[in-house]
Amino acid sequence: MTEPDLSCTIAGVRFPLCLMNASGALCVTREELEALGRSRAGAIVTKSMTLEFRKGNPEPRYYPFGGGSINSMGLPNLGYQAYAELIPALKAFKKPVIASVAGLAEDDFPEIARTISKAGPDLIEVNLSCPNIPGKPQIGYDFEASERLIRKVRAVVDRPMGVKLPPYFDPAHHAAMADVLKRAPVDFLSLINSVGNALVIDPETETVVIKPKGGFGGLGGSVIKAVALANVRAFWKAFAGRIPIIGVGGVASGTDVFEHLLAGASAVQVGTALVEEGTGVFDRLAGELRDVLKKKGYPSSTAAVGKLKEL
Ligand code: DHB
Repeated sequence: MTEPDLSCTIAGVRFPLCLMNASGALCVTREELEALGRSRAGAIVTKSMTLEFRKGNPEPRYYPFGGGSINSMGLPNLGYQAYAELIPALKAFKKPVIASVAGLAEDDFPEIARTISKAGPDLIEVNLSCPNIPGKPQIGYDFEASERLIRKVRAVVDRPMGVKLPPYFDPAHHAAMADVLKRAPVDFLSLINSVGNALVIDPETETVVIKPKGGFGGLGGSVIKAVALANVRAFWKAFAGRIPIIGVGGVASGTDVFEHLLAGASAVQVGTALVEEGTGVFDRLAGELRDVLKKKGYPSSTAAVGKLKEL
């Protein structure tokens, strides 16, 4: 059998490999973004950007443990103007550039999106799910605010635009967000952001492991894979596969990627495993995915998308 094709197309944009970094993972500085450009990653996703430069929360603010990680970074980023200036240089790596747009207030989003859209990223990922700003609720858990914000951003961008959503844990919430997206359509979904406001404890020292928010933070890594797969599957079904999905959560092996594809993801993003392993993770995952697809007789990653069987 010939080598499986691991490329994909999302919202009309071709990705040479269906694997990329998750926003937040090694993608804040110019150096980090260029390292992603030089790596095997199929796209370059920026850190979520705000109006102003932010140092982020006090350290320690990221902590890996067996099975995952917890973080409360607090949106450290260069500020949107810096990313607008960087994007043309990043496009020279000949792979899609995805600008992740955040904000501390609702009106920040369209302001950032308007300028960043003009810088020419291939796609815009609107982050409706940052759990780590003290005192700010996640927009994605407020369905009216989410719809309002999607409409406002849509009106000022001329690039394909998607939303990064938080995990939902109830079918009523999947349905409510699907209804929002039927009224205010987007071009792709990135599912899921970290499982917000978890608590990891070191029993030896009897302390929390990160400093911000009394130790509360977003959970990532293998421990959230089942939650991510459920959200990918729920939205895949809600739209009968008609909105492309980028799966995020618990991808540490080629088999994990394969499971995301089966659930309905067209591509996957890698967070914790990238931070822990560095950009070489994309070579390893690409090799493992190729082997899984070959063994299973799939000619391409695309051929596995949504092929999950139910009992
Ligand atoms: C941060 C974390 C997130 O999960 C997110 O979506 C945006 C920002 C952060 O703490 O920096």
